[in-house]
This record gives sequence, structure tokens and C-alpha cells, in this order.
Amino acid sequence: MAKSDTKTARLVPPGLPNEPLLQVKDLKTHFQVPAGIVRAVNGVSLTLDRGKTLGVVGESGSGKTVLARSIMRLNLGDHVIASGSAKFEGKELLDIPMSDMPDLWGVEMAMVFQDPMTSLNPVVKIGRQVTEHIRHHHGTSKSDAKDAAIALLKSVRIPEAEARFNAYPHELSGGMRQRVSIAIALACGPKLLFADEPTTALDVTVQHSILNLLAQQQRERYMAMIMVTHDLGVVAGRADEIMVMYAGKVVERAPTKTLFEDMRHPYTEALMRSIPKVSERSHTRLSAIAGRPPDLINPPNGCSFSPRCAYAGPRCFEEAPPLVDVPGSDHQFACWLPVGSEEGKEAFERNLAARVPQAVAIAEGRVTEDLTGDLEQAAAEAVAEAAAAEEAEGT
Ligand SMILES: Nc1ncnc2c1ncn2[C@@H]1O[C@H](COP(=O)(O)OP(=O)(O)O)[C@@H](O)[C@H]1O
Ligand code: SF4
Ligand SMILES: [Mg+2]
Repeated sequence: MAKSDTKTARLVPPGLPNEPLLQVKDLKTHFQVPAGIVRAVNGVSLTLDRGKTLGVVGESGSGKTVLARSIMRLNLGDHVIASGSAKFEGKELLDIPMSDMPDLWGVEMAMVFQDPMTSLNPVVKIGRQVTEHIRHHHGTSKSDAKDAAIALLKSVRIPEAEARFNAYPHELSGGMRQRVSIAIALACGPKLLFADEPTTALDVTVQHSILNLLAQQQRERYMAMIMVTHDLGVVAGRADEIMVMYAGKVVERAPTKTLFEDMRHPYTEALMRSIPKVSERSHTRLSAIAGRPPDLINPPNGCSFSPRCAYAGPRCFEEAPPLVDVPGSDHQFACWLPVGSEEGKEAFERNLAARVPQAVAIAEGRVTEDLTGDLEQAAAEAVAEAAAAEEAEGT
């Protein structure tokens, strides 16, 4: 998953090509809607090696699901404007005729959705739903498919799998239904699994076991996984690399340990503060980030996080920061005034002195959902005042 130019040696099982499984470059998925163009995914690049896990993290609306669906080619309709490149085992997915895509789904790549009822048919017994996938792709006999399905249900730890084979989805708990949809996704041995908020709809007590199950299956099968979540805590110990998305773009990307120890982007820092406490239900809406994600049809000028950022300076409101490398590492971020830098510290202190609400809230360790008023205006005014004062000092 490291960027190909800085990649270190990887242990690839014998017989598998030593090339990235997935290479995405400048992928864009825009939607033409009556109000304008929604830039849901706006120039995302990533590389994923076989057997590795990439965590894709961001608030609701940041483009995570559209990204996953774009790679799977699941965004359909005349209003979809797609560009860029997504190569799977070197083959351009965007050039594959839509009619050929079903051959790849399940076998090469599969998806586990947030709500298992999205992938399960409520009127078909779960056993049949698993065997259908096996038979469709492998042409296996009915009885062999049944044996394989029961083995698969056991491997995702469905108790009394033989009896449950004849159950309908509504007869199972939410956690059990998600195990069944994982079994279906794994049925044809995909090389890449997208897990899109796979535990968000589940009770907190079930979440860990589902996440552990996914991690175990991923290791055993040497399968790559893209784990999509709004909760940085979910991918903390489970992803090899984390990519943070904001407003359809990657704002920071790093190996997991590096991201946690040396985050540079104020949005990543805000996500870190919003990791739900163990005592809370983990699908509690993110509460520690002031303000709202931007309108993707009319995004703000400059950095798209500027209206909500405790570090913002004048440049942030005018010029969008590019994604840059931390020299000598696999770490990239897009920010003019990064966390941990001298200039970032100065900007934060200046905003704090100007009583910019988001800076005050961080300094006081408060939950910023308590903030009221127009944060964007408060930030912009404080920054403009500080800039004017600096200019006056300099003259
Ligand atoms: N089919 C669509 N048509 C128009 N807009 C869409 C469509 N699908 C998603 N969007 C918009 O794209 C943005 C990103 O959505 P999504 O990827 O689902 O966010 P996330 O998964 O990060 O919560 C949102 O503003 C959403 O409303
Ligand atoms: S400091 Fe500026 S560039 Fe960095 S995230 Fe905040 S607003 Fe964006
Ligand atoms: Mg989503």
C-alpha cells in the first residue's frame, strides 16, 4: 500500500504477482443534479497491495461510499460523470463494458454494506442466498454448494449453521444478518473486499466481533480490504494504512501508526478527538467537529475545511492546499498550516487569542457541537482581523 516509488519489500505468497492489486489515479465521480454538479469524489488516488487493509475515514458525506462504488462501478445513471483511472491487477476497470462487470463482482471484488438488509433478499432463505452465489460463479452442484455454504456460515461463526441455513433474514439478529452478508461477500473468494461502515448499524457489543471476524477472514484469505468508516477508532488497530477524506478529496494519508503518532491535518486531529468513547454507542454522530461539511456543489474558496478549522489563516480562505509528501516517508497531507508545525501553532494561538470558537473549544477541551452561531463567519472575521493587524505591524 505504500506509494509505489517508496515501497518496501512485501511478503507476497508464491505464485502471486508482485504488483499492486488496485491502483487508483485522479478518480473523479461527479453527479449532475438540477442544482449543479456534486463533486462527490474529486481527484482521489490510492494504491492497495494484496492482503492489505486500507481504512478510508471521513464524516458522513465526504465521498467514501461513492469512492468504493466508483471502483466497483456501481454508480449508475446518466447523471454520473466519471473520470480518471482505477486499475485492478493492471486492468482498467473504467474501460470494462458494464455488461462484463458482474463477472468481476463477487469473484474479484465484493462489498459488505452498512445495512445487511441492502444485500440480503428478505424473502429468500439465507442458505439459498449463499448457495446462489457459489453456484452462479462456480457452476457447483446443488449439494456441493450447500456443503460449501454451511462451511462458510460456520467460518463466519453462525451458530447452528445447518439449522440457520433454512432461516429467513428477519429471523436472525442484526449481527447474524451481517455475518451472513459477509459470508455471501466471501463466497467466491474475492481478492478485494470493500466493507462500507459494516458495523455502523449494529449494537456496540456486536461491532467488535464483526470487525474481528472481517480481520480474521482477511488474513486467512490473503484478501485486500478497504474498510470505510466515519470512526477513526474502528480502523485504528485494523488497517495498515489510513486515508482521510474530506469533501471528496484525500486530505491525509499515512501508515496507521504514523497517522496516529504524527498527524498533520487539522481535520484528522478533529476526527481523532471525535473517536467515540467506549461508553458511547459508536454510531453516535460525530460531535466534536464544529460546523457542517461543505456543500459539494458550491464548495468554499481555498481549503474546503477552512470554515471549520481552528488553525485557518488568510491563505486558507483563498488557495486550496495540494497533497504533499512528508519527506522520506509514505505520509502525505494537504494543509498550509499543519498540526505540529511552528506555523500551525502560531495560527492556532492567533485564532485562540481572537476567540475563534473552534480554537477556544479545542483549548478548553469542550465538545464543539455546543458551539452556536455562524462559525464560518467567526473564523473568517477573526482571520481577516489578524491579517490586518499583521499587515499594520509590518508597515
Ligand atoms: N447518486 C447520487 N446522486 C447525487 N449525489 C450523490 C449520489 N450519491 C451520493 N451523492 C452525494 O455525494 C456525496 C458523498 O456521498 P457519500 O459517498 O455517500 O458519503 P459518505 O459515504 O462519505 O457518507 C454526498 O453529498 C451525497 O449526497
Ligand atoms: S490550516 Fe488551512 S489549509 Fe490547513 S486544514 Fe485548516 S484551513 Fe485547511
Ligand atoms: Mg457512506
